[in-house]
Amino acid sequence: MPHTYLHAFTKPSRSEFLTMVRGEGARVYDSNGKEYIDGMASLWYCNIGHGNKEMADAIAKQVTTLESYNNFDPFSTDITDVLTDKLHSLSPMTDNRVFLCSSGSEAVDTAMKLARLAHVQAGRPERTIIISRGRGYHGTNFGGTSAQGLPLNKIGYDPLVPDVTQVDPDDIEALSVMACSSGQSWIASDRMPRALAGDSEVQAHMGLLGKDTGLAMQAAQEVGFVGLLAPVAAATFAQACDQGWAERDDAAMLAFLRTHLNQA
Ligand SMILES: Cc1ncc(COP(=O)(O)O)c(C=O)c1O
Repeated sequence: MPHTYLHAFTKPSRSEFLTMVRGEGARVYDSNGKEYIDGMASLWYCNIGHGNKEMADAIAKQVTTLESYNNFDPFSTDITDVLTDKLHSLSPMTDNRVFLCSSGSEAVDTAMKLARLAHVQAGRPERTIIISRGRGYHGTNFGGTSAQGLPLNKIGYDPLVPDVTQVDPDDIEALSVMACSSGQSWIASDRMPRALAGDSEVQAHMGLLGKDTGLAMQAAQEVGFVGLLAPVAAATFAQACDQGWAERDDAAMLAFLRTHLNQA
C-alpha cells in the first residue's frame, strides 16, 4: 500500500522509506535508532546543523510575537525589513532589492518573470528568450522545469514555458551562436542550437548532412523553426546547407542565413 504522502522525485508506488526522526548537529537518526552523518545537510539547506537551539528559540520568539503577516500593498513587517536589509548588506551588489520566497523553485520562476518584465518595462517586449545550460537543475515549478537541462525531469509536462531553451554547458561557442541567432528571433526549439553546435544526430535528423532539403525543411517545421522558413526560400536554405552545415561551419552558415534574412 503506497503512503498517503506523495514524495517528490520518487516512484509513486514506493511504499518503504528510510524514516528520519531526529537530528543533532551533523548527525541524523532513523526510526530504528541508526545514526548517520548528514554530509549533504539534507538537500544542502541545513548548513547550521539539525536541532539547532538558537534557531528554534528565534523562531519561537517570532511566532509568539507575530507569526506572519502579508506583504501586499500597503503592508510590511518589521522583521522582514530587518532580514532584507541584512541580506542586502551581505550581497556584493549595491543596488539590488530583495524578493522573499519559500523555495529555490519559486526564486527561479520569479527571476524568469522579472527578466521578462524588465524588457517589457524597457520597451523591448519581444525579448522573451531565456537561455539556460544543459545538465542544470532549476527546480520543480513550470519555469524551472522549462529552464532545466535534465531531460527526464521535463517529460510529461508539455507544453512548457515557451522561449526557454538550453545550450551545451561545456560549449561556449554554442552559447554565442544561440545569442546571435536569438537576435533574429528565429530560434524556437532546443534542437536548432544543438544542430548549430555540431550535433550530428540532430543535423542528420534535419536532413542536413544528406543535403536533403525537403527533409530538412520538414524537420525544421516540425521543431518549430518556422521563422526561417518564411523569409528564406527552399533554394536558399539548400545553399545555406551547402555553405555551412554540411561542412559543420556554423559561422559561415549563420553569416549566409543572416544576409538572406536581412535581405528578405
Ligand atoms: C540551481 C537550483 N535552482 C533551483 C533549485 C530548487 O530549489 P527548491 O528545491 O528549494 O525548490 C535548486 C535546488 O537544489 C537548485 O540547486
